[in-house]
Amino acid sequence: MNYKKIEIPISANCEEVETVKILSKKYKPEDIYFEFFDDKINIHLNQLDFVSFKNDIEKLKSQKEVKNGNQNLLDLIFDKINSIKSYGIKNKKRVYVGYNDEKKVSERKKKEEKRITAFYSLNHNFSKHNNNLPQEFENQILCGDSLELLQKLPDNCIDLILTSPPYNFGLEYAETQDDFMWKRYFDKLFAIFEQCVRVLKYSGRIIINIQPLYSDYIPTHHLISNFFIQKKLIWKTEILWEKNNYSAKLSSWGSWKSPSSPYLKGTWEYLEVFCKGTLKKEGKKEDIDITEEEFKEWVNAKWSIAPERNMQKFGHPAMFPEELAKRVIKLFSYQNDVVLDPFNGAGTTTYVAKILNRKYLGIDISEEYCKTAIQRINSQLF
Ligand SMILES: C[S@@+](CC[C@H](N)C(=O)[O-])C[C@H]1O[C@@H](n2cnc3c(N)ncnc32)[C@H](O)[C@@H]1O
Repeated sequence: MNYKKIEIPISANCEEVETVKILSKKYKPEDIYFEFFDDKINIHLNQLDFVSFKNDIEKLKSQKEVKNGNQNLLDLIFDKINSIKSYGIKNKKRVYVGYNDEKKVSERKKKEEKRITAFYSLNHNFSKHNNNLPQEFENQILCGDSLELLQKLPDNCIDLILTSPPYNFGLEYAETQDDFMWKRYFDKLFAIFEQCVRVLKYSGRIIINIQPLYSDYIPTHHLISNFFIQKKLIWKTEILWEKNNYSAKLSSWGSWKSPSSPYLKGTWEYLEVFCKGTLKKEGKKEDIDITEEEFKEWVNAKWSIAPERNMQKFGHPAMFPEELAKRVIKLFSYQNDVVLDPFNGAGTTTYVAKILNRKYLGIDISEEYCKTAIQRINSQLF
């Protein structure tokens, strides 16, 4: 129990002390208690029914045997306590210690709630009703256009989407780049992402691995993030995937040793993480599989992971490494959750999801890549 300490100096006069002892016996020690010394009285004050206290003092003072000197001591004690103006009121008592703690906690909680509201996500229309993924889509690699295939899924049936988009919609037939070509690219990409938002469960996460198109000066990571923000998803974080591939050729796009137009390029890519409806995803404790060491390392949002080394073996030019998929899946989903990759390529997401006891659905437009993704899963004995 905490107390506020008040020191009252006294002269060596037993009668005064005796009077205060009479007063002290009227209270519970958890509210207030007195310590008596030769030259002082220490009052330890936690809480006090101040009206009763005042009456008690008045009564003592009016008793005939109390002499003038004693009255002064009682007045001194009363004045000292009455001069404390910082207190709370609880059950008609003045509370002198910790009265602000509850308020502080509730204010902190309120502040925290306010802080996580992500203003742009307010007034979304997401239903909280989640659906099961229909059996026919469970643990499947589907070949086709995600825009068409995703429309066959019900709303709110996927826990986690991990993907890296292609760089070539609408670019196939283009001889030269023009703004219409880029409009076609983003229209198609966002139409697929719109479906992704729809099929994502309330509290589900969508994680996009993306690299800005440096050579075309297109900040794809910003444009994509802006799309999800406009769709009222909550931006949870941005992970920097440091690939450390310094060997990538320095291109001659920019000016050499001159500020006229230096060309800057990164050795990293981004993972933009968004949540639907809420930041918190409920799940069973026994379905958590991330270890303490993994958690501690991976919540540091800069991940140093070498690029995929087996792209030739898998016959795909733009894969992300298994380690990247493993971290995303373990950090943002529970075992038995449903993981989707709408641009599944050689099937890194679906392969790792399977290994980690998640249900998976992978879609890719290329038959060849789908075959690879299936072979990859089948080659493993689980
Ligand atoms: C960047 S790659 C994904 C690679 C994958 N993360 C991996 O590790 O293997 C993008 C993929 O999107 C696929 N794609 C392009 N347009 C598509 C569409 N409309 N629907 C589904 N997949 C498509 C491409 O075939 C390509 O394999």
